[in-house]
Amino acid sequence: MKNVKLIELPKILDERGNLSFIEGENHIPFQIKRTYWIYDVPGGEIRGGHAYKELYELIVALSGSFDVVLDNGINKQTFSLNRSYYGLYIPKMVWRRMENFSTNSLALVLASEIFDQRDYIRDYEQFKLMIK
Ligand code: TYD
Repeated sequence: MKNVKLIELPKILDERGNLSFIEGENHIPFQIKRTYWIYDVPGGEIRGGHAYKELYELIVALSGSFDVVLDNGINKQTFSLNRSYYGLYIPKMVWRRMENFSTNSLALVLASEIFDQRDYIRDYEQFKLMIK
């Protein structure tokens, strides 16, 4: 899928424990204005189910695993995230759903904008019309 990419993050291996990091506008092509995380997801629950008009995001499975199902209106692609040193970069105008959360999984999301409800597209039919 065009513009979507799995980014391998720096990994400093150490006998004392490993360390990874992300710098805005360096490892990801946007300035980080907001960070949020999704946790304590009950088995079988689905998050997301929307697109953003202007927001760019990077999703990292800091702990555990989950699937991110992406849809740009033409193609669909599922990414299984289960390593804390990979981030899934999702540009604006991509429909996303997150599912199959493992027990104790932790999804970290870095976002290019502060929270704005008006940036959400929550109706799939409207999304399909907007990308035409
Ligand atoms: P939402 O983005 O719909 O969750 P998800 O797509 O992960 O299932 O957000 C759920 C609720 O949390 C919604 O009422 C908006 C609120 N919210 C904030 O107030 N600030 C934020 O940064 C985010 C991501 C959500």
